Amino acid sequence: MSPDPAGPRRLLVTGGAGFIGSCFVRDVLARRDGTEITVLDKLTYAGNEANLAPVREDPDQAAQLRFVRGDIADAAIVGPLVGEADAVVNFAAESHVDRSILDPEAFLRTGVLGVHVLLEACRREAERAAAGDRSAPPRYLQVSTDEVYGTVAEGRRSVEDDPIGPRSPYAAAKAAGELLVGAYVVTHGLDAVVTRGANTYGPYQHPEKLIPLFITNAIEDRDLPLYGDGLQVRDWLYVSDHAAAVDHVLRHGAAGETYNAPGVAELPNRTVVAGLLERLGKPWSLVRSVPDRPGHDRRYAMDGTKLADLGWSPTVPFEAGLDRTVAWYRANEAWWRAARSGDWHDYYERQYGDRLARSEAAGPTAAER
Ligand code: NAD
Ligand code: DAU
Repeated sequence: MSPDPAGPRRLLVTGGAGFIGSCFVRDVLARRDGTEITVLDKLTYAGNEANLAPVREDPDQAAQLRFVRGDIADAAIVGPLVGEADAVVNFAAESHVDRSILDPEAFLRTGVLGVHVLLEACRREAERAAAGDRSAPPRYLQVSTDEVYGTVAEGRRSVEDDPIGPRSPYAAAKAAGELLVGAYVVTHGLDAVVTRGANTYGPYQHPEKLIPLFITNAIEDRDLPLYGDGLQVRDWLYVSDHAAAVDHVLRHGAAGETYNAPGVAELPNRTVVAGLLERLGKPWSLVRSVPDRPGHDRRYAMDGTKLADLGWSPTVPFEAGLDRTVAWYRANEAWWRAARSGDWHDYYERQYGDRLARSEAAGPTAAER
């Protein structure tokens, strides 16, 4: 299929109640261009229907959204939904590296079996299209990550043809999902594309991740557990930019291709944390240096030329994005307190209890070093 510049009209968005998926749903429906979205989401601890509240509160947008609670690894649920869709956008994943080190199984179930189920459903629909039973085969977009490249040496930037080298169970599951997509493109001629996004931040991110964890802990004057020397480098991408990159590739990406979606700010964690504390008016003494994440990738950095050539580049500067993010968490305390439910306290104790007991003062900020 040659992609239609107007874009597919009926989308199945899996994982659409999570952080980036819900931003994609909110932003696409806010265009009011007739796009209809079905969200399929399991509502794990990370999924939250409240992330779609801005859509529900607008009757016109709400009429374009259907929510189905279910697992992408459940073929009985997935099959009919893919049957009704022009395109499938798969955000669904277990997304936290630290949890993948503690409990990897769910990562494989969703990241490998779940992707397999989605691809099989797309393959069946493509066969129906070939038989004249539907007008066109569905397009499939796999939302992947820069983590599949593994750690990247100083001075280098990953390009799409680089060999992948995932180093955490999370990244390995994401890489496996991508490999399955590639296999279906080659073997079955599936119309599929892959995006590899950089470290994403912004409103509605679960408080387990660095930026929201440190904002919410700092608001409560709690310790901020900085792993190792805190000089690991991440390239930060504002969430609406990430959602826009996915939308752009969905509409314009060439079948079978993979596109990096890099961020705008390559920064060591210490610098990011200093920026948060400054905005919150909290002292650096909250930061505790704790034992490192096992296998911690030192640096991610991607080259974005291929997607820029296709017409997309990130737009939100890091300083402005961080301002908005800090303001959002300050204004939405009920949201993040609710997200710290379920297994949160057990998880926090497993992940940080012993680390914080062995912690020390974090020393100077990156700027002071
Ligand atoms: P998230 O954890 O906030 O959301 C994941 C969503 O998927 C949740 O709503 C959850 O309920 C749902 N889900 C999980 N397992 C499911 C299953 N089996 N069936 C149906 N739904 C399921 O994650 P996020 O940060 O929004 O990431 C979304 C996607 O983007 C993921 O695929 C992730 O690998 C990728 N990604 C994330 C980042 C980042 O920095 N956050 C960067 C690059 C790529
Ligand atoms: O790069 C894209 C990836 O970014 C996505 O694929 C993942 O889904 C997403 O979770 C994110 O992975 P990271 O591991 O980079 O993000 P996290 O927020 O967990 O950590 C960011 C950096 O901060 C990393 O170097 C580890 C460090 N860190 C994190 C936490 C949670 C700390 O120092 N202390 C912490 O408590």
